[in-house]
Amino acid sequence: MRIHVVDHPLVAHKLTTLRDRRTDTPTFRRLADELVTLLAYEATRDVRTEQVGITTPVTETTGVRLSHPRPLVVPILRAGLGMLDGMVRLLPTAEVGFLGMVRDEDTLKASTYATRMPDDLSGRQVYVLDPMLATGGTLVAAIDTLIERGADDVTAICLLAAPEGVALMERELAGRPVTVVTASVDERLNEQGYIVPGLGDAGDRMYG
Ligand code: PRP
Repeated sequence: MRIHVVDHPLVAHKLTTLRDRRTDTPTFRRLADELVTLLAYEATRDVRTEQVGITTPVTETTGVRLSHPRPLVVPILRAGLGMLDGMVRLLPTAEVGFLGMVRDEDTLKASTYATRMPDDLSGRQVYVLDPMLATGGTLVAAIDTLIERGADDVTAICLLAAPEGVALMERELAGRPVTVVTASVDERLNEQGYIVPGLGDAGDRMYG
């Protein structure tokens, strides 16, 4: 597993406003959408392409287009849904699947309540969207499901991560073809499993 923390002033600026408790829901949604597009630009650096010949108004030349099979984008409901538009803006031809997962706020264990995506993901590149990588339980379970179905390259895009969650993923997904792209690895998790300093509960701030 590989982690990529996107170090860019625009990313840091948008993240700072997202963290601010005074940021209202409409602004939070808009900034999360914009931030995802910036993270997606980095996350798709290795998206698979194939050569294609084209004719410009001047001459014939060679370019690239996205290869088949198309990449699959999987937002983790609820909060990941707020990242979908920003992602498909960059990958408009991607197929979209859905995973509904919720973390028990007492035990911090993740469970899956909805799955809607192709059974066979052999040879597919998959982009998973979830704003928060906290304990990591949700993403590890989600990525296990994708790999069981055959996905051979999984990139998780998270607005924020906690070191504890990154460590769990490194332990559980060692040697797997998995990349995490995030705007920040914060200081720690608190006793309630919230990222510190974090931005609070992303699902509540988007949809609360
Ligand atoms: C939050 C968040 C992640 C998960 C992270 O979702 O959006 O999916 O918790 O926690 P973990 O890394 O400790 O597993 P939540 O369960 O609150 O559901 P929601 O998106 O529906 O609000």
